[in-house]
Amino acid sequence: MAVPLGGRGAPHRPVLLRETIELLAAERGGLFVDCTVGLGGHSEAILQASSDAQVVAIDRDHEALELARERLALYGPRFHAVHGDFRELTRVLAKAKIKQARGILADLGVSSWQLDSPSRGFSFRHDAALDMRMDRSSGDETAAEMLGRLSEVEIARIIFEYGEERHSRRIARAIVRKREQGEPVTTTSQLASLVERTTGPGKQRRIHPATRTFQALRIAVNRELENLDRFVTDAVDHLEPDGRLAVISFHSLEDRIVKRTLGKLSGRCQCPPRVPICICGARKTVEILTRRPITPGDEEIAVNPRARSAKLRACRKL
Ligand SMILES: C[S@@+](CC[C@H](N)C(=O)[O-])C[C@H]1O[C@@H](n2cnc3c(N)ncnc32)[C@H](O)[C@@H]1O
Ligand SMILES: [Zn+2]
Repeated sequence: MAVPLGGRGAPHRPVLLRETIELLAAERGGLFVDCTVGLGGHSEAILQASSDAQVVAIDRDHEALELARERLALYGPRFHAVHGDFRELTRVLAKAKIKQARGILADLGVSSWQLDSPSRGFSFRHDAALDMRMDRSSGDETAAEMLGRLSEVEIARIIFEYGEERHSRRIARAIVRKREQGEPVTTTSQLASLVERTTGPGKQRRIHPATRTFQALRIAVNRELENLDRFVTDAVDHLEPDGRLAVISFHSLEDRIVKRTLGKLSGRCQCPPRVPICICGARKTVEILTRRPITPGDEEIAVNPRARSAKLRACRKL
């Protein structure tokens, strides 16, 4: 389903939509929590799956939340959107007076709408201040401020780990050299051209040479991998028996955390091989519904390239 956005750029295409709605068993109706509402594509499909379904939607981006509210106003009180960070799920749900949900969804990362918003600084396609914060009301550090503060080694580590960029050291060196020359990198175009100059144009690469660096900084600025394990555990805690949790990730480090945490909650010991007795606390509270992660087919990738790296995992509370 492509969700029209009243003339704003390309239609919005929620990733792995049919598969997610099926795994959540949304046709049963009941209360669902969409932890990453974005523009509300998945939320809307949940609301459409049953006239009995209600969605409490969370996002840490005020602007996205406002758009989702407008778009889904036609569902009246069945849709309720709140600002918050899903890693504080227990607190956010308590504030909304919710104890248990029939289904919980998290579609991680940034939305294409955020990437395409010229002023947010997520993309090298638009010249803007290097901001990259999903929650601009948070007072957190912007990407430019982070590059102004961290050491060369720290910048290189971020670009290598979160971006899997093999030129990470060279890029970090160039960023710090600019800073030392009194010309710190503060805009998306400056960063994009610095990376391009540092790594060379490459051999007809399919993706822009700065893609991995931008991704890495975004993950670091928003601390996207932090407490993801706790979120998965808390989400399962808030499911009613037979309730479902679905998580879509876009990065191997993210998927690894989701996989390990779900594994542990399904009772599989996650201790290193040589530990004589189990110390990880694995206990069976869920049944895994996706033995292997679900990934988009060629057709979906053709119409929505952002779906390329998506992995969907889901479980059922026992
Ligand atoms: C991939 S988009 C979701 C798209 C949505 N499923 C749709 O169909 O429109 C991810 C959204 O999650 C939000 N987000 C990311 N991390 C978050 C967090 N820790 N807490 C709350 N929202 C977060 C982002 O601001 C973004 O709007
Ligand atoms: Zn163990």
